[in-house]
Amino acid sequence: MSEAKVAQKGPFPVDVEAGKRYAWCACGQSATQPFCDGSHKTTDFNPVMYQAEETKTLYFCGCKQTGGQPLCDGSHSSL
Ligand code: FES
Repeated sequence: MSEAKVAQKGPFPVDVEAGKRYAWCACGQSATQPFCDGSHKTTDFNPVMYQAEETKTLYFCGCKQTGGQPLCDGSHSSL
């Protein structure tokens, strides 16, 4: 399995809406971070779907190394 590209060494804050589904980019190649734009087709990765339960600000992982996909778990601080 290839390694995910580090899109950004830090999370992307996103104001999500309750009930809406989001496709988080797992490969790091998307031009529309932190979300999937289909660029993963040339990689071994697939996007990770996330359904927001409430309307609030979430921090989506930008380094793609998180253990808690799709959200930031602080892994970027050890890169
Ligand atoms: Fe990265 Fe789709 S573009 S998972």
